[in-house]
Formats: sequence, structure tokens, C-alpha cells
Amino acid sequence: MTTLPINVAAGRARDNRDDALIRAVKVCKHFELPGSHSIFTVLEDINLAVKSGEIVALLGRSGSGKSTLLRILAGLIPASSGDIFSSGRRLTGPNPDVAMVFQSFALLPWLTVQQNVELGLEAVGVPMKERQTRALKAIDMVGLDGFESAYPKELSGGMRQRVGFARAFVKQPKVLFMDEPFSALDVLTAENLRSEISDLWERGDFPAQSMLIVTHNIEEAVYLADRVIILGANPGRVRGEVMIDLLRPRDRGARRFKDLVDGIYIVMTNPDRDLTTAMTGIPPRRETPYPPLPHATAGGISGLLELLYERPELRDLPEVSSSLQLPTDDLLPIVDAAVMLGLAEVRQGDITLTEAGRAFAIADIQTSKDIFRAQVLERVPTVKMIYTALKEKPNGSMRAGFFLDILDEHFPREEAQHQFETAVDWGRYAELFEYDRSEDRLFLPVEVSELTD
Ligand SMILES: Nc1ncnc2c1ncn2[C@@H]1O[C@H](COP(=O)(O)OP(=O)(O)OP(=O)(O)O)[C@@H](O)[C@H]1O
Ligand SMILES: [Mg+2]
Repeated sequence: MTTLPINVAAGRARDNRDDALIRAVKVCKHFELPGSHSIFTVLEDINLAVKSGEIVALLGRSGSGKSTLLRILAGLIPASSGDIFSSGRRLTGPNPDVAMVFQSFALLPWLTVQQNVELGLEAVGVPMKERQTRALKAIDMVGLDGFESAYPKELSGGMRQRVGFARAFVKQPKVLFMDEPFSALDVLTAENLRSEISDLWERGDFPAQSMLIVTHNIEEAVYLADRVIILGANPGRVRGEVMIDLLRPRDRGARRFKDLVDGIYIVMTNPDRDLTTAMTGIPPRRETPYPPLPHATAGGISGLLELLYERPELRDLPEVSSSLQLPTDDLLPIVDAAVMLGLAEVRQGDITLTEAGRAFAIADIQTSKDIFRAQVLERVPTVKMIYTALKEKPNGSMRAGFFLDILDEHFPREEAQHQFETAVDWGRYAELFEYDRSEDRLFLPVEVSELTD
């Protein structure tokens, strides 16, 4: 087992004191899969707390259930089992202690900035005069002084999200919830707004006691949070938490900042390293016959392998991410796919090519396809299942729907579609089968069916 350059407290998120503003106890959430009788578990046995005076980041890959958890904590949707306590009271409806900032701004286009900001106060019966005073203060706080009468369409994306913040601030919630609030903005705008929020917090002017931010951006989590809770996927569970012991304002160039980012990378690139199991004896996640394929194309995977071969000094994942100008969330699935295929290894936040990966990177196109095919057949059950089924058919062809039905048994509908598309992409690259989109059928390519029989 490798050692991490940081401390990861495994198992449940730290909540051993009674000063929790919000607490989740044994929260599970499942959805019924449409058209089948199976149930899809999104969150399993989530225990966590948000205390007064802290910023907590909830970090997880796309689909790990972050937004679902946030909605449950906000009382917008019910948990399937388990309880939420807010200010010590068990939650049975919308959480009055919380205001939310969404990724998509969600402003009403026919209302002005000020009207948008006042809206939530009107709903809870705050008198007009007070509404106005509070709204103007919130608008000022987010730097939109002078834009009170503007309409959302007249504003840039960054300004719209400022309105999103003002609309949450004006409620003076105990806890501010943010669901990827910066990810719809361009890099520079996101950076500005992030540091302004951080400044407000440091100055003590922040209109909430605590913040809970959902993100898949590791640097963002380390920059903003006092504590990072890492969610694993399938089903979403707390894998561990990391205390961010950095003084504010934070310096991204600092050694410790980098170590924390690297350490979290290690945890996130080792989805099977079950920190929770190690500490609490919770059984490992269920075996599935079709381990989920990371959403990466064969082209993306081969691009990464070539880059790693050409630039052997490039090992550190955060550096790979910045040298490719690829956000973490886009890079990690490609890395996972390369690891799943046995073409790369990740250790201590460093990625290196395996022998097969090196052979792949230097080979001519046909030889790399041969290597890819061998790795896929050995390590990717979904693609192998499709290939085997096609080989069983005398005409070597089957309807795509057949495979989608199989995947539907194991994944939610949308994810089953993603899984199918990725499997087809890999299978085609490996020249194991072809897909005719207009007929919606898969079939064996002539050469391979002849070669392997
Ligand atoms: N109402 C629903 N019915 C069925 N499945 C759902 C529903 N809501 C969410 N899911 C599924 O639950 C899983 C988690 O979704 P969620 O949106 O919480 O993830 P996330 O971590 O916020 O992802 P992202 O980073 O992409 O925003 C996904 O597979 C999603 O398809
Ligand atoms: Mg989400």
C-alpha cells in the first residue's frame, strides 16, 4: 500500500462534536430504474456534518451523487432512508437554514437584478422596505452596485452568477450551499469570483456561518475549504476526508498546497482503494459483472499515452492536467481508462506507462490496435460480452438494443447509454466489431470473424 503525502481520515466524515449545523445520519438514496424492477443506489450510508464557521467541500467525480446529496441536505428531495438534522432538528421539508447557489444561475429573465434578489424574501413574507434594504446590501456585496435595474440578459455570465450569490446572501442563511457555482464560467471569471468569495469569508463579512461547496475541481476544493470530503461513486459513499491546514489567503504555489492537491489526486485516481472499508469494516462495494467504463474515447486514451511517451518527465497528474489545459474532470476518466486497460499505472499522484502502454505508444497504428484489442478482451467485460455475443450469432450481427437492455439492468438509463457508446468506441478501435448507426446494429467486421474462428 502506498503512503499518501497527506492525512486522509477514512470512513465517516468527522462529526464527533455537537456543534453541527447540519448533520446527515446514515443517508441512503436510490432511484428505481425505469422499465425494470431494479433499483439504482446513488448514495449509501452517508454520515457527515457541517459545523459552524467552516467551509466544507464535497468532492467527487461526475455522477457520484454530489448534487443529489446537496438536494437532500437542503430538504429539496427526501432521502430513501436515514435522517438529516439541521440546527438539531430533524428535517421534514425544505431546510430553512440553507440558501443555494446553482451552477446554472437560474435567474428569472423577466425580473431585474434587484427583483431577482428580493424574490426569495418575498416568499417568506419579509416586508417591502426590509426586502429592499437587504437586497441592495447583497447586490453591493457581490460588486453589482449600479446594476440593480438591469435584466439578466444584459449581464455577462460572471455577473449573472454574482446575482446568484446575492440571491442566496440576501436570505442570510446559516449555511450557504453551492453546487459547482463556478463551473459554467470561463476560467478567468471563475478565478475572480472564487477569490472574491474567499476574500469575503476571510474578512469576516460573509453573510453565512458556513459553506458547503460541491465541486469536482480538486484545486478549487483545496483553495476554498477547511475540510474536503471525498465521495466515491457507484454507489456514492464518503471515502474519506482531508483537513486543509493552510492559512488564508491561500497560495497555490506553496509546497503544502501542491501536496494536498497531489494527495487528493491519489485518492481520486484509486477508486478501488476503499478507505472506508479499511477503517470501519463496511463491506466493499458490490461486484458488478460490468465494471463501469470511464467515459473516455480510444482517441483520447491513445493521445494521453503518446504524450506520456514523448514527455517522460511529465508524470505528476496535476501537471499533466495543466500541460494539456484539460480540467481534472476531463483528464481523470482518460487516466482511469488507461489504467483499466493496463496501459498506464498511477502511483502517488504520478502516472507512468506500463510495458503494454509503452509498446502501444511506439507501435504503428495496426500494432497499437492489436495491443488495444488484447487489453480490452482481457480487462473489459462489457466489450468482451458484446464481442462474444456477436460471435455466437451465425450472421455475426445483433441489434444494439439487446446490449442496451443488458446495461440498463446495471446502470441508470442515461449511464447505460454512455456505457454502450464507450464500449462501442473501444470495440471499434480494437476492430472487434462495427456499429451501423442507421440500422442500430452491431456486427463483426469480416476480417476478425474470419481470423478468430
Ligand atoms: N431523479 C433521478 N432519477 C434517476 N436517477 C437519478 C436521478 N437524479 C440523479 N440520478 C442519478 O444519480 C447519479 C448521481 O447524480 P448526481 O447529479 O447527484 O451526480 P453529481 O455527482 O452531482 O454529478 P455531476 O458532477 O455530473 O453534477 C447519476 O447517475 C444520475 O443519473
Ligand atoms: Mg451535480
